[in-house]
Amino acid sequence: MPNVNQRIQNIEVPGTRQFANKVALYNDCIDLTLGQPDFDTPQPIKQAAIHAIEQKTMKYSHNMGLIELRQAISNYYIDRYNATFNPNSEITVTIGGSEGIDAILRAILDEGDEVIIPAPTYLGYEPIVELLGGKVKFIDTTGTDYILTKEALLNAVSNKTKAIILNYPTNPTGATYTKAQLDDLVDGLKQLDIFIVSDEIYAENTLECEHYSLVIYPEIRDRVLVVNGLSKSHGMTGWRIGYVVGDYRIIEEVTTVHLYNTICAALPSQYAAIEALTNQIDLPKIMNKSYIESRNYVYQRLLNMGLDVVKPKGAFYIFPSIKKYSNDSFQFANDLIESVQLAVVPGLAFGEFGEGHIRLSFACSMETLVEACNRLEQFINKLEAKK
Ligand SMILES: Cc1ncc(COP(=O)(O)O)c(C=O)c1O
Repeated sequence: MPNVNQRIQNIEVPGTRQFANKVALYNDCIDLTLGQPDFDTPQPIKQAAIHAIEQKTMKYSHNMGLIELRQAISNYYIDRYNATFNPNSEITVTIGGSEGIDAILRAILDEGDEVIIPAPTYLGYEPIVELLGGKVKFIDTTGTDYILTKEALLNAVSNKTKAIILNYPTNPTGATYTKAQLDDLVDGLKQLDIFIVSDEIYAENTLECEHYSLVIYPEIRDRVLVVNGLSKSHGMTGWRIGYVVGDYRIIEEVTTVHLYNTICAALPSQYAAIEALTNQIDLPKIMNKSYIESRNYVYQRLLNMGLDVVKPKGAFYIFPSIKKYSNDSFQFANDLIESVQLAVVPGLAFGEFGEGHIRLSFACSMETLVEACNRLEQFINKLEAKK
């Protein structure tokens, strides 16, 4: 057999999946590993897709997506952020946020380019940069409650830096930026001639304050590419609808990559997304009420267990430190699942700066969370007894 691509050989299956796959091996295992809402797609969104399948032509759409969907996305950006994106040239609908990230990186990176990523970070970026022959430089944000500061940004930049990838609310930490923190960061960003990829897929899952999108800063508008989608906000991970908004000159290149890769997003899903972004636009506000309750509960339980943890302000993850007990998060997560049948993601899966932590998803029922916290406490008590 001929050799496969050399770079793919160095890329591993993500730690989130490795631990999710382990769940099936245990009876009565509680799974807090995966990053998706536990509520199903609401019925009216499903009905919109069913109606479209029955009533509309199911051919390819425009490569950028149905114009009605792009118009709905454009309206969303005007309503939420007072930011204007031309639906004809500045919005491309992709197969989930994932394809958006891939298409952007392929559109902007050359071999040897460096990409800055604040870490701990979502594990979907580095492999794509590496497949393209780029190099990631992680910036440790553990000392600043997972917020990237202007100073840390300016220290990390080199003459090879082509882009930065930001993600907030952040997977895996739940951190997000206040307006003042974002102003400070943007002050640094506007001094640099680099692309700014802003993965704001959890924007609607901001639990405490407003979400301040990078689209609100005119001084960097021509270099910002925002990734967003319906997966997290509307319980639509399986529909695979995301999108990218940005300056028309870059969106044109992103769309070129996208059209060679996929032609267009699936039509029934696009019709479902129109319903989500119009009649169901306020659904995340309702879901957030239950996430806030879950977040508060898990946060308090972790504090009561004596674990160090930053209170998440968004997304549906919490990222306690386990350094009191272990510096090997894979070992800790393995012992946890074997001993009390609780599956979490080891922090190392989010890069070296995530080591010494575990990620718990709190997008599940209160009943599940109560039992999960009981099991974690039982495990921690055993470790304390051994000390
Ligand atoms: C930060 C972040 N970006 C992007 C994605 C991918 O989202 P999608 O399902 O829209 O491809 C995820 C999924 O977990 C994520 O956590």
